[in-house]
Order: sequence, then C-alpha cells, then structure tokens
Amino acid sequence: MINHYITNNELITLSNIKAVLEEGIFTITLNRPDKLNALNHQTLSDLKTLIEDLNEHPEIRAVIITGAGEKAFVAGADIAELAHLNPTQAKETAQFGCDIFNTIEQSSKPFIAAINGFALGGGLELAMACHLRIASENSRFGQPEVNLGLTPGYSGTQRLTQLIGKAKSLELLMTADMITAPEALELGLVNHVVPATEVLTKSKEILTKIMTKSPTAVKGVIACVNAYYTVSVDGFAYEIETFGNCFGEADFKEGVAAFLEKRKPAFAWS
Ligand code: COA
Repeated sequence: MINHYITNNELITLSNIKAVLEEGIFTITLNRPDKLNALNHQTLSDLKTLIEDLNEHPEIRAVIITGAGEKAFVAGADIAELAHLNPTQAKETAQFGCDIFNTIEQSSKPFIAAINGFALGGGLELAMACHLRIASENSRFGQPEVNLGLTPGYSGTQRLTQLIGKAKSLELLMTADMITAPEALELGLVNHVVPATEVLTKSKEILTKIMTKSPTAVKGVIACVNAYYTVSVDGFAYEIETFGNCFGEADFKEGVAAFLEKRKPAFAWS
C-alpha cells in the first residue's frame, strides 16, 4: 500500500521497483536489469504494493510500466524461483500474479506497457494486462514456457488468444517462437512501434491525450471492453447501462456544454 500522498517528481524506491509521478502519470520501472527484470516474488509484491490502491490516489491519473536497462521489458517469471516450486505452490504463485495483472486490466486508470526489449513469458503476460502497448523497434515477444515443460500461468493463453486470435496464439504458444516488434504490430499485439529512445515519450503522449478526455467516460470504456471478455457479463447490456449512467455525471454536462459553447471541455481528473 502506498500510504501517503505522492508528490510530483518524488522518486519511490522499493526493493525491485522504482516509480515516479510526473504530471499525473505514474511511471513504474521494474528494476532488476541484471536479471532482465525477471518477475520474482519480490518484484510482483512491489508491483502489487504500488497499484493495489490506485483509486485512493487521485494524484495518479494514468500509469506506465516499463523495464530498467536497454535490453528487456521483462524476460519472464524468475526461472530460478520457479525451479523450487511444487504444484500447490506453483498454483499459488500463478494466482498471486494473475490477481495483480487482473487489477491492472480492471483499473479505471489507463495503463500503458512501455516495452523496451524482451517481453517474454510473464513479461508478455504483464504487457498484455495493460490497456495499451508501445514497443521499441528492438523488442522481442514470446511465450517460451513450453521450452521449460510449462504452460503459461499468468493468463498468457487467455489474453494472447484474445489479442491475436486462436491460430497465431497457438502457434506462438506451441513453438515458443520469438517475434519482432513489426510482427507484433501486424498481429495487433502492440499498438505502436517506435525507436527505443521514444518509447516513454510516445506512451506519455498518448496518456496526455487520454487525460484531456472525460475520466468517467474513459473508465466506462475500459469497463465495457473488459465486459466483452467476461463470460458471465453481457457486454452489450453492460454498455447500455454504462452509457445511460454517463447522463447523470458532471462530465457529460461539461462535455455537452463545451461543445455547444464552442470551447474545449475541462474535465476534472482528480
Ligand atoms: N528468470 C530468471 N533469470 C533470468 C530470466 C528469467 N526468466 N531471463 C534472464 N535471466 C537472467 C539470466 O539467467 C542471466 O543471469 P546471470 O547473468 O546471473 O546468469 C541474466 O538474466 C541475463 O540473461 P542472459 O540469458 O545471459 O541474456 P541473453 O541476452 O543471452 O539472453 C534471453 C536473453 C531473454 C533470450 C534469455 O535470458 C532467456 O531465454 N531468458 C528466459 C526467457 C524465458 O524462458 N522466459 C519465460 C519464463 S517462464
């Protein structure tokens, strides 16, 4: 839990993560570059700490997740740690990671994965839990778990299939092939590919644009799209409900008034 108000430019340092808030954008850097930012339990715990109570932090409007160093976003779950798990512990580990990734996907604040190199296994799973993915030209993507005698455990089989379809998903999952950033773009796995030096800039540019829109509507859009992928929810009905609810919100009054008065809307994100 982040139990204090975070001020602009304050560097937060946890064991394996550093984070900073700049103009409403909270940039979280996974910080184990010597292990290509592999997700060990401590790193996942740090990530959980930073994101679990985001709604109580109005000063944070949007989040970027990236990796330290020039080589990797995240090269997967920490294989050295996995090596010692029995089936019960492995299921607990998978559930722990899935809960964190679900929190990201269901967050009302937009998350971007700024992918700056290898996004493999748990790294790709983390990136896929974010709402958007911006990749550097040198990024590489894959789910290489079958090389280790494993299936993915942080929802990789589910989100990869949602994003790129069954045929390509099965191919990547069964072959463990690594694909390039242009290939990932063509498959719809990432939103944009940019030079490595521009990954954070592009991510911030997109979030800054989103932050000029209605936060109520942005939250609603995320929830509606997530509803499409939630078996127990009728996404079409959910959208009607969400649309209707917008009409009782201050953002709707501001958005419509601004249009009629021929001015830009001023939405309050805090
Ligand atoms: N878990 C634990 N440690 C990892 C890791 C992972 N997923 N990925 C990389 N590392 C560590 C390496 O063991 C090495 O540590 P060391 O210097 O103490 O030996 C360090 O990170 C650098 O990795 P290295 O393999 O030397 O870099 P490379 O450029 O030769 O290869 C990869 C890069 C990404 C191709 C290679 O590291 C790799 O295949 N990693 C595992 C990917 C994977 O299977 N992920 C899914 C896990 S479920």
